[in-house]
Amino acid sequence: DLPARVRIHEVGARDGLQNEKATVPTEVKAEFVRRLADAGLTTIEATSFVHPKWVPQLADAEQLFPLVSDLPGVHLPVLVPNERGLDRALALGARRVAVFASATESFAKANLNRSVDEALAMFEPVVARAKADKVHVRGYLSMCFGDPWEGAVPIHQVVRVCKSLMDMGCDELSLGDTIGVATPGHVQSLLAELNEEGVPTSALGVHFHDTYGQALANTLAALQHGVTTVDASAGGLGGCPYAKSATGNLATEDLVWMLQGLGIDTGVDLGRLTATSVWMAGQLGRPSPSRTVKALSHQ
Ligand code: HMG
Ligand code: MG
Repeated sequence: DLPARVRIHEVGARDGLQNEKATVPTEVKAEFVRRLADAGLTTIEATSFVHPKWVPQLADAEQLFPLVSDLPGVHLPVLVPNERGLDRALALGARRVAVFASATESFAKANLNRSVDEALAMFEPVVARAKADKVHVRGYLSMCFGDPWEGAVPIHQVVRVCKSLMDMGCDELSLGDTIGVATPGHVQSLLAELNEEGVPTSALGVHFHDTYGQALANTLAALQHGVTTVDASAGGLGGCPYAKSATGNLATEDLVWMLQGLGIDTGVDLGRLTATSVWMAGQLGRPSPSRTVKALSHQ
């Protein structure tokens, strides 16, 4: 059985732009977020309150957030790695934050300068304070399927960190295939194991990268398992600066095309979204890698 409705968690402005070589002007980012909202997206990850030296592309978070925070009916989650990040986000009135853990030691070290457990310890007060403030918390988990340094990632390793994030008080989790190596059978095995371990499927989102062209197949496998939250990036922007082999995220347009064909409601206007990605591609000076954007815009 497939769900009647899917909630798209749009990550283009964060996961997409964090990986661009060029730094996009703040005003262009704000316009991008406004256009995404205008296309019907209601959860738009805006930016990250991380160390500006680690992700210089998002160093303008303080300037950007107030430019978009008045969009009606739109949730604007932001990434916060630690209490410093949470302070910065709360000072601007953010009501949704995301911490980001790793299923592997290598990526935890590369991305957060911590071991897996040290990173979880860093998140604990962040989640506790956010929850005390009634701020919604997403817990990302990277490298859920494979890792560029460690190879295939055992399912039990992923389940352990998922349970820690849920026990901490995260409202939802996002299972990241950071380097895009997952295949549908692996997705279903992980979801089944999480189910068995008591992590409710309703709290799970999926975050696929399209490196091997499997992102849509993996998404369909997750939908068949009951998942209703899917991360995607307009125009297929993005990757991850601390995971070399990560290529673009699943393109939101490709996702919407498939969901429309399945009769699944997303609230997104595909024409407006495609026009937004074509415009953004112009800003970045290169065509969108999304097949659907190409097909619909004859790029
Ligand atoms: P660190 O160097 O260990 O930091 O980095 P520290 O705690 O030792 O602090 C060092 C200095 O940084 C201090 O300043 C802090 O105040 C400052 P000093 O006292 O030396 O002047 N500092 C900060 N400044 C501003 N904002 C902050 C902040 N925190 C500390 N929040 C740290 C640790 C976590 C900060 C660093 O590793 C970091 O910022 N990492 C972020 C990496 C990142 O954003 N990666 C991309 C997102 S994850 C992703 O894309 C995957 C995902 O898409 C899912 C998937 O596909 O898998 C989510
Ligand atoms: Mg990502």
